[in-house]
Amino acid sequence: MTTQRTLILLKPDAVQRSLRGEILRRIEAKGYEITALAQRTATAEELAAHYAEHEGKPFYAPLVEYMGSAPLVAVVAEGEGVIEGFRSLAGSTNPTSAAPGTIRGDLGREWDLPVIQNLVHGSDSPESAAREIEIWFPGLA
Ligand code: TYD
Ligand code: MG
Repeated sequence: MTTQRTLILLKPDAVQRSLRGEILRRIEAKGYEITALAQRTATAEELAAHYAEHEGKPFYAPLVEYMGSAPLVAVVAEGEGVIEGFRSLAGSTNPTSAAPGTIRGDLGREWDLPVIQNLVHGSDSPESAAREIEIWFPGLA
């Protein structure tokens, strides 16, 4: 494996539930380095670019509404195998079935909403990571 970078989002539910520290602690405790971090409310343009692959799916509109409803924290993390490694730390998409020990499994549950609120996003491939880092941190070398 080689040193990689990944784009992580601490989604609005993570910020609202004061779980930023807990989630960042897990990333750092795993040995990954946080090399960029910014909190802001995402724009419609950022979210359309970030979730382009999901456009047209039934959860797309509620997903974009939820992601833009309150501040989120965008993070770049670096380390050996960090793309797969962070997704392993995050756990599977649905927090009800995500394994205990993972961020989603330990800290998330389903809420009565049309979109799955699962605390974090992590890039799923080197190509996604490069694309997503450019969306959230344009010009970051
Ligand atoms: P996806 O990329 O499939 O999941 P992951 O975040 O694990 O890579 O979906 C993006 C987000 O869309 C997901 O984190 C939560 C939301 N989502 C739903 O609300 N309902 C769904 O049925 C799916 C598949 C995703
Ligand atoms: Mg995904």
